[in-house]
Amino acid sequence: MDKLLIEGGVPLAGEVSISGAKNAALPLICAALLTDKPLTLANVPHLNDVTTMLRLLAQMGVDVTLDEKNSLVLDAGGLNKPEAPYDMVKTMRASILTLGPLLARTGRARVSLPGGCAIGARPVDIHIRGLQAMGAEIRVEQGYILAQAKRLRGARIFCDQVTVTGTENLMMAAALADGVTVIENAAREPEVVDLADCLNAMGAKVSGAGGDIVTVEGVERLGGAAHRIMPDRIETGTFLVAVALTGGRVRLNGTRCGILDAVVEKLRKAGAMIDCHKDTIEISAAGPLNAVSLRTAPYPAFPTDMQAQFMAMNCVARGAAVVTETIFENRFMHAQELRRLGADIEISGNTAVVKGVPRLDGATVMATDLRASACLVVAGLVARGETLIDRIYHLDRGYEHIEEKLMQLGARIRRVH
Ligand code: EPZ
Repeated sequence: MDKLLIEGGVPLAGEVSISGAKNAALPLICAALLTDKPLTLANVPHLNDVTTMLRLLAQMGVDVTLDEKNSLVLDAGGLNKPEAPYDMVKTMRASILTLGPLLARTGRARVSLPGGCAIGARPVDIHIRGLQAMGAEIRVEQGYILAQAKRLRGARIFCDQVTVTGTENLMMAAALADGVTVIENAAREPEVVDLADCLNAMGAKVSGAGGDIVTVEGVERLGGAAHRIMPDRIETGTFLVAVALTGGRVRLNGTRCGILDAVVEKLRKAGAMIDCHKDTIEISAAGPLNAVSLRTAPYPAFPTDMQAQFMAMNCVARGAAVVTETIFENRFMHAQELRRLGADIEISGNTAVVKGVPRLDGATVMATDLRASACLVVAGLVARGETLIDRIYHLDRGYEHIEEKLMQLGARIRRVH
């Protein structure tokens, strides 16, 4: 079991390249199922979740190759098994994103229900109800979603919760439906827009993505396309927090402020200096930060995937901060680990009060989920002495070579087996 060993106290300096977005790559890979022509994706991040999704599609009969420019070429012309088995879905919930495309392309799908997840129940009822509204017959048996539809038909669908993958699943299903689909209370995340752009390049007719009403006029078939995956805004935010916490000056390449304005605004309030350019961000910070309260909510509000990293930042800031998590019901597991480093955090329900302490002291801690792992890394970078982080397989799901990137910036961090 790999661990990460960090010696804190080094201000980060230099340049780092931000990878393609995990949460854009996963739905974009599934979009390949909608056509029998090749879909080429550039800027694909090398992540365990991406590898899992590619394995999942390969066992369905999709041809997966890397071309000479390190772009992914997906060809679902040979799709012959519209199934997502439990042993693969249990390691990655985003497998649910194959349901809509498989149903739209082949008329049937057998997808394992995503299991439970550390951060919350994360049901997929909105995905299922939306597909039923489009005429799919769906039953759930022995932990599998069994779906069939001769041809999906356009429908008006209201999502009673804003759901990112729900919006993406329904958008992909609607692309090949007969008639027009209107998705109301749709997710507005940039990853939804990135998917819509790719679908339209494949010949779909999606409009309104990025707003809360998305309209999809179904077409008979989709063609191939070449699409470059947008930058990862959560990796961007994670590195911005790491620099703010440790001080120093870093330039982030291959990313932009406009996909995480709420995070940039909070970091400026905390005292970091941030310059935004077309596809780079420069950040510098010195001295103690101001505590910043936050409340997570769907985009464009403050992202839940940055909540843990900001909790770590507030642990050593001046003053007290109130952190409210409104998206997931159990996303404070990192607090207990931060306390082991000396943090002062009081939790009641979905609200945590973080009182800044003069410093954190290194200790052995355990990662519990993907973003909690990132929170422990940034805490380790500022804690005095050594921090050893266990169960970092969570981290590898969503961050490409994070310790190499941090080492390039001067961090004293290494993977120990
Ligand atoms: C996506 O998950 C992201 N994953 C998550 O990132 C992110 O935290 C989340 O959106 C919120 O922004 C991917 O894009 C692959 P939701 P998703 O459906 O789509 C409830 C990370 O760290 N809900 O937007 O699964 C649900 O329980 C991951 O990269 C229903 O009730 O999240 C939650 O409370 C973690 N019924 C809320 O909606 C449904 O059918 C938002 O969930 C669907 C969702």
